[in-house]
Amino acid sequence: MIEPLPWDDPAQEPGASAGRLGRYARAVRDADLGRRNGLVADVIGLVVEATGLKAEVGELCHVHPERRRGGGGAVPAEVVGFRAGRTLLMPLGELTGIAPGTTVTATGHPFRVAVGDALLGRVLDGLGAPLDGMGAPPGGLRSTQAAPPDPLSRPRITEQVGLGVRALDALVPCGRGQRLGIFAGSGVGKSSLMGMIARSTTADVNVIALVGERGREVREFVERDLGDALERSVVVCATSDQPALVRLRAAYTATAIAEHFRDEGKDVVLMMDSVTRFAMAQREVGLAIGEPPATRGYTPSVFAELPRLLERTGTAPSGSITGLYTVLVDGDDMNEPVADAVRSILDGHVVLSRDLAHRNHYPAIDVLQSVSRLTGEISTAEERSAAARVRGLMADYRAREDLVAIGAYQAGSDPRTDAAIAMRDPIEAFLRQAPDEPSTVADATSALLGLEARADAAVGPTAGEGTDDGTAAGSGGVPGAVGVAASAVGPGGPGAPGGPAAVPAVAGVA
Ligand SMILES: Nc1ncnc2c1ncn2[C@@H]1O[C@H](COP(=O)(O)OP(=O)(O)O)[C@@H](O)[C@H]1O
Ligand SMILES: [Mg+2]
Repeated sequence: MIEPLPWDDPAQEPGASAGRLGRYARAVRDADLGRRNGLVADVIGLVVEATGLKAEVGELCHVHPERRRGGGGAVPAEVVGFRAGRTLLMPLGELTGIAPGTTVTATGHPFRVAVGDALLGRVLDGLGAPLDGMGAPPGGLRSTQAAPPDPLSRPRITEQVGLGVRALDALVPCGRGQRLGIFAGSGVGKSSLMGMIARSTTADVNVIALVGERGREVREFVERDLGDALERSVVVCATSDQPALVRLRAAYTATAIAEHFRDEGKDVVLMMDSVTRFAMAQREVGLAIGEPPATRGYTPSVFAELPRLLERTGTAPSGSITGLYTVLVDGDDMNEPVADAVRSILDGHVVLSRDLAHRNHYPAIDVLQSVSRLTGEISTAEERSAAARVRGLMADYRAREDLVAIGAYQAGSDPRTDAAIAMRDPIEAFLRQAPDEPSTVADATSALLGLEARADAAVGPTAGEGTDDGTAAGSGGVPGAVGVAASAVGPGGPGAPGGPAAVPAVAGVA
């Protein structure tokens, strides 16, 4: 234990004049005076066990194979735990040439990446190294692990950030520094949606993490979906064939890069596709070091790491990171454990529906299932009431959709349903958007208010309102049935046969 030095006042940090001596003293105190080495004893599956290595959990080490076929120097590895006096490490690279007794050296720091404005326009791997064939980006080193900002120092979210997607900007508005989950199966348009957002968001910088994607999809995303927006974006990707630790690192690296821009006062949008693959990578690590599997094989550390990752984005005293995290929900199982955990951490969710995608309705956002928990803080009363009106019309249509489809609903029997049917095409046209169709929050809002006005003009301001007042409820439930009865009776009943039957009678009288 070293005595605190008189000038060693943490309040002075960093860089106050009296702090210079203090900083030197601290540097000497914390310095690694002497190399900390260990030797490889065992390699079991993905885990390297080293003896004699005094290193902390999360510390970066280097494994030095004596002969490495295919060249290359030391393999970086990270301490992931300890067992029976041995240090457990997982490699951040290809583990070749390793043998019993291979030397492992501790570096004294966690994994760090170079961050700086030169990263804009670059495509990096999970460890921050360039994938685009250009030189290593210059920049200061930053640890990929960080604590989230202190909760009380975080400003409240009061402003909307434009995402450039009409359906979202108008009906699921996202605040500057809000975190939204995008719940979707595969192939329903996540990548196109992220590309649309990256191209038209009002934020200054996009940081996009592709975790566990197929190799082919990375290039497709960068060239097709992102396009010109690459110049104000940083893409970090770890494809599915990369070691689990590298896939995890990609999520942390991207978050650290977003934090760098946020600390410069910028508004950043961080998009991560997908958190589910991040959770799967953490599960792989957990199982490899002997954690017990819990819900659906996910280990407890998965549910400890998720909030640690997701809480790092959001507002901060300077700048903000708006977080959009995709969650894979295959078979539309919204209660799968990762989806459940993520939903409880984030401030809202957007659901992409396979049904809509099958109907070629893109972006396939299921508005009725999507919510933004901050709508009240970031939109005006007028916008909220127009949004509620449109959602109400959509809900009414959905409730009667089957009747309408089989022709069992008779127009005029229920004003609410009539309004929903009349407004269906304009609402659909409003919600659909081609990937290259630009839109701003102002466009989305005025189109939304236009829809409300059109609904009022078509059926009057009260019909179709969400409230269940007497008339609406009365004409909402029963007449649907009346409609069915009328149309069932129509062709074969009193109408047709009754008519001709009446004619002879009249004729007879004449
Ligand atoms: N806004 C859109 N307009 C038209 N088609 C779209 C749109 N978004 C997605 N698609 C279609 O959906 C397909 C799959 O989209 P993609 O973004 O690659 O899905 P995911 O990333 O979820 O696997 C695309 O090839 C495209 O044909
Ligand atoms: Mg995709």
